[in-house]
Amino acid sequence: QPTGKLAGKKIVVSAGGTREPLDPVRYLTNHSSGKMGFAIAQAAQEAGAEVTLIAANTSLPVPANVKLEQVETARDLSVAVKQAFTTADVLVMAAAVADFRPAEVANQKIKKTANNEMMTLKLIRNPDILKEIGPMKQPSQVVVGFAAETNDLVQNAEKKIKAKKLDLIVANDVSKKGIGFNADNNQVTFLFADGRRQKTQVESKSQIARQLIDILSQQFLK
Ligand code: C5P
Repeated sequence: QPTGKLAGKKIVVSAGGTREPLDPVRYLTNHSSGKMGFAIAQAAQEAGAEVTLIAANTSLPVPANVKLEQVETARDLSVAVKQAFTTADVLVMAAAVADFRPAEVANQKIKKTANNEMMTLKLIRNPDILKEIGPMKQPSQVVVGFAAETNDLVQNAEKKIKAKKLDLIVANDVSKKGIGFNADNNQVTFLFADGRRQKTQVESKSQIARQLIDILSQQFLK
C-alpha cells in the first residue's frame, strides 16, 4: 500500500508542448520541454499518488512508477486528458497547448516555387482543454492550470483562473532568463480561486513541484 501525502489519490499531469502538423515533415510548436510537468508527476508519485503523465513531444526520462501516455497534437491531448480525467482526483495541466493549428495539413511536403516569395498560413483555433474540462468537473475534483506569461503575470493569471474555472493556477514569467521554458529552475506564483497568492523563490522545478503537492494535500484533498 502506498503511503504519503497523496496516498490513494489519482493524479493526471499533462506536460510538454503540442505539435501541430503543416505537412508530413513540418509542424508548429513552442519552447516547452516538459520539465515542470515531469517534476510534478515525479513529486506526486513520491507522495504516494497513482500518476498518469500525458506527455506531448517530450524526450525526458519517465519518472519511476508513473504511467506514460504520449500524444502529439492539441486534439490528441484533449482526448487523452478528458478520458483520464473521468477517474482522477486531480488534473494538473502543465502542457503548453497550441492555441491554433494549420487549417489544412498538406498530404505532401509543401514546396517553394519560383513565385511564392510570400506565403500565408491559415490557422484555426484548437479546443481549450481546460474550458472543456470545466463542465465535467465533480465537486471533489481539483483542477490546476498554468499561466506562462511575458507581461502582466498576475492580472492575466487571474483572468484565466476565472475563465477556466480553476481551483489553482501556477503563474510563471517566461520572459526571464533562467526560469520557465526549458530551464531547470522556476519561480512561480500560486494563485487560488479565492484570491490568495503565494510567490516562491527561484528554485528547482522539483522543489516547486513538491510545493504544489503540499498545497494540494493540505488545502484541497483533506
Ligand atoms: O490560455 P492559456 O493558454 O494561457 O492558458 C494556459 C492553461 O490552459 C494551461 O494550463 C494550459 O495547459 C491550458 N490550455 C488548455 N487548452 C488550450 C490552451 C491552454 O487546456 N487550448
